[in-house]
Parts: sequence; C-alpha cells; structure tokens
Amino acid sequence: MELTETQSKQLILARNLYAIYKGKGDSQNVVALSGINLDMKDGEFISIVGPSGSGKSSLLRILGGLQNPSAGRIFYHGNEITKLDEDALVPFRRNYIGYVFQEGNLIPTQSAFMNVVQTLRFAGVERNDARARATETLDKLGIKHRMHALPSKLSGGERQRVAIARTLVMKPKVIFADEPTGNLDYENSEAVMGLFKDLHREENTAFLVVTHSKHTSKYADRSIELRDGRFVGEHGLDMDIDDLDLSRKVLIQPDGTLNLPLEMLKLLSMYGNLWDFSVVKEGDSHYIKATPAEVSDLGGHKHEFCPVCKKAVKPSDGQCNSCGASLM
Ligand SMILES: Nc1ncnc2c1ncn2[C@@H]1O[C@H](COP(=O)(O)OP(=O)(O)OP(=O)(O)O)[C@@H](O)[C@H]1O
Ligand SMILES: [Mg+2]
Repeated sequence: MELTETQSKQLILARNLYAIYKGKGDSQNVVALSGINLDMKDGEFISIVGPSGSGKSSLLRILGGLQNPSAGRIFYHGNEITKLDEDALVPFRRNYIGYVFQEGNLIPTQSAFMNVVQTLRFAGVERNDARARATETLDKLGIKHRMHALPSKLSGGERQRVAIARTLVMKPKVIFADEPTGNLDYENSEAVMGLFKDLHREENTAFLVVTHSKHTSKYADRSIELRDGRFVGEHGLDMDIDDLDLSRKVLIQPDGTLNLPLEMLKLLSMYGNLWDFSVVKEGDSHYIKATPAEVSDLGGHKHEFCPVCKKAVKPSDGQCNSCGASLM
C-alpha cells in the first residue's frame, strides 16, 4: 500500500481493521471489528461512542498498539506499526502514546506521588524536575492533599486521577482513554475533561476517548459511532448521546463506499438489488432517498423487480431467475 503525501502526514491512518476473537468452533468466533478505517490528524480530539460490545475497547487497544489486529494496517505519521515486533513497539508507545484505562494499574507499594515521579524518572527526567512536575500535575487534578497516600488508601476516583496524572505528566502525542471518567462523579469528570481539553489546546495533544458520557463527548472535535464493529455514523460538536438515533449522519468511507450492516440491507430488501440514491430536502433536514433503479439496462429493457424476492428481472422471461416466481 503506497501512502499519498497527505496520508503519510496523518497522526494515525488505519485501514481495514478486523478484530476476530477465536471461539471453540468457527461459529463461535466473535467479529469485534469489521473493516474499520480511520484518519486522525495531529491534535485531533475524537470520541468513540456505541453500545456495550460494539468493539470500542478492541479498537482502542488495536490502534494503541496493545493488541494486534486480525487483519488491517495502522500507520503513525506514515510508519507502519502493524509491522513492528514487541521490541520495537515499546519505544514507539513510550514516545507517542499515553493510556488512561479504568483499572489504572498503580504500583501498590508506592504513594500516589511516587507513582507519578517514577514514571518520569523511568523516562530519564532528572529527580527534582520529576518531583516538581508530579506535584504540579497532581495539584491540577485536585489530589495534591492525598499525594502521599498509598493507592489502597485512596478512593476509586482518587486512584483514577493518580493514574491519569501519570499519563498526562508524560505529555504524549496522543492519549487513548477508555471510559476515563467512568468512576468519577460529575465534578471530578469535568475537572479531568477540562485538563484533557487544556492539554489538547496548549500542547496540541490528540485524544481518542471511548465514552458513554455526553459530558465527555461534548469536548470532542468529532464523535464516531460504532455498532457491531462498524462505524455507522459521525457526529459533530452538537451531538447529544441521548439523541443519537435522531441526529445520525451516514459516513461515506474515503473510497466512496457506504458501509451498512448486512442485516440492515436485508431489512430494507436492498441486498443484491440496484438502487438510485437522491438527496431530498424536507424543511431544514436532508435525507437520502433510495428508489429502485429505473434506468434502461444494456439490453434496452427497463429494470423491473420481482414482487416476491425484489431482485431485478426481465418480465419477458416470464419467471424470476432468482426465486422462480411467475412474472405473468
Ligand atoms: N479477549 C476477548 N476474547 C473474546 N471475545 C472478546 C474479547 N474481548 C472482547 N471480546 C468480544 O468482542 C466484542 C467487542 O468487545 P469490546 O470490549 O471491544 O466492546 P466495547 O464496545 O468496549 O464494550 P463495553 O462498552 O461493554 O466496554 C464483544 O462481543 C466482546 O464479548
Ligand atoms: Mg469497553
């Protein structure tokens, strides 16, 4: 795959990602992602929304180089990470990526403060500088007063803020966060998201954030909606998660194709048929209207459709070639 100049400048370019988790038999395989494409610019703030089990965490782990896709390719600034082995992935992750996961994974035997300091020290930051930066970040997150406590003595929300401090203090190019405010109350969620937003603005840090919360998604430049492992919509700043079904827009892939789940096509009796699409304006809204294609086919016949299976037929055949229904 040759990347264009624009493509090789993207922070993240992902093509045709699949995640398949093997079950006991083939029928028990779970297809968590089916053919995801993503273009993400430096400094972009994207939120990923979608119901439980739609593939959000799988996508985040795969894009973040924590899990290999079953198929597909991922490039960071034109460099393919899906070709790297674990030894090469470690420095790549350290230079590019910060993760905020719900579990946090703090070192249990060290204070909140030392958890943050150690992360910086490990990356080669000098001792006094590391201590100053750790204090400043913990202060910004509102837990300076608890910074000498061990993780086991902190509340779930406080532990999470320490974990977030540890990520933010490294100033990565992109932060992957899976439900980062899931354990936090409204006030603390706002504080954390405010800090994300500051970093986004001041350091041009990019964010890919999985969220169920509309307070979180309102901070994003755009929100992408996942269902059954496919992107089914893209939303602007005005998205309200409660209104998703009303505000749904269709996302046309960069190659001009429109991904709709097979089940939906079958439901619309569109599978295997020819359709014309037109944009219809009604009041302030635009809709895409699908009508059976009426254009003359190559043989000079008009397309008509079988009343039973809805496939294209030639009435002169007398019988539908697909299902055998009589056309007389
Ligand atoms: N390690 C795994 N092995 C087998 N199946 C998995 C594994 N991880 C995820 N799955 C399945 O893949 C699908 C997508 O899971 P994923 O965790 O990505 O969804 P999600 O959108 O993050 O859901 P939630 O909102 O509940 O966190 C689900 O059907 C899940 O059961
Ligand atoms: Mg998840």
